[in-house]
Amino acid sequence: MENTVQLEEQFNAKLDKGEFIEPKDWMPEKYRKTLIRQISQHAHSEIIGMQPEGNWITRAPSLRRKAVLLAKVQDEAGHGLYLYSAAETMGISRDELLDQLHTGKAKYSSIFNYQTLTWADMGAVGWLVDGAAIINQVMLQRTSYGPYSRAMVRICKEESFHQRQGYEIMCALAAGTPEQKAMAQDALNRWWWPTLMMFGPKDSESKNSTDSIRWKIKRETNDELRQKFIDRTVAQAEHLGLVIPDPELKWNEERGHYDSGEINWEEFWNVVEGRGPCNHIRLKVRVAAHENGAWVREAANAYAAKKAKREAGSLVA
Ligand SMILES: [Fe+2]
Ligand SMILES: [Fe+2]
Repeated sequence: MENTVQLEEQFNAKLDKGEFIEPKDWMPEKYRKTLIRQISQHAHSEIIGMQPEGNWITRAPSLRRKAVLLAKVQDEAGHGLYLYSAAETMGISRDELLDQLHTGKAKYSSIFNYQTLTWADMGAVGWLVDGAAIINQVMLQRTSYGPYSRAMVRICKEESFHQRQGYEIMCALAAGTPEQKAMAQDALNRWWWPTLMMFGPKDSESKNSTDSIRWKIKRETNDELRQKFIDRTVAQAEHLGLVIPDPELKWNEERGHYDSGEINWEEFWNVVEGRGPCNHIRLKVRVAAHENGAWVREAANAYAAKKAKREAGSLVA
C-alpha cells in the first residue's frame, strides 16, 4: 500500500513531466478543491454571462446581427455545460454546483454585474470581455487537469469567434454616423476598466496565485495577463479611431510594454463582494430560470428512465 508521501511524489513527477492529471489519478485534496472552485466559477461565469447579452437579442438592429448574437449566447451555454461536466469528474454533483451559485456561495466573473446599456455594448463586450477571456483561457488549454484542459481547447476556438463578432460591431459603429461613433466610444469608456479588472487583483495581493502556478493550473500571473491584454488592445482601438479612457496610457520603450493608470480597486472589491450594479438581478434571473426549467429536467429524467427500462426489457427478451 502506497503512502501519501509516495503518492504525492508521483503526482509531482507527473506535473514536472508536463503530463495531465486524470480523474482517476490520486491528487492532493487542496489541488482538487482549488480546481473545483476554479472550474465551477468559470462555468458559472459562462451561464451568468448569457444574461447581459441575452437582453439584446430581441433588440438587435438586423436579422443577421440577431442570428449571430443568438449563436454567441448559445455558445456560452455550451461552455457552461463542458465546464460543469469537467468539474463533475472531480467528484461534485451538478446540483451541488448550482446550489452554490444560487445561494451566493460561489462566485462568477464580476464583469457580468455591469449593465449593457446600448447596442454598442454588444460590440464592446465581444471585443473586450471575450478578448480578455481568451487571454486568460489560452493558457488553460495547457492546464494540468486533463478534462479541464480539453474543455478549454474547444472553448477557445469559439471565444475567438466571439471576439471577432464584437470587434466587427465596433468597426461598423466607428465607421458610421457621428452618433454611432460616439456610442462606440461611450461603450469603450464604460467597459475598459471593468475589463482590466477581469484579470483579478494585483499579483502582490492575490492569495491563490502561488499554488495555482506550482500545480500548473495557472501558467501566468494576473499582472502578466493584464499587461498582455493592454498591449494587444491599444492598436485595435487606434484602428477604430477610438480613445482608450486612460490618460496615463503610454508606450514604455524600455519595458517594451504600455504603462497604464491605476485600477479603481475600491470598485473592484465592491463588485466582487456583491455591491455591483447588477449582482442582485443576475442571481434572481438565474434562480428563476432554474425553477422554470424544472419540468424540462423532470421530463428528460422520465424519458431516460423509460428508455433504460425498454432497453433492459429487450435484453431479457
Ligand atoms: Fe464562453
Ligand atoms: Fe464568449
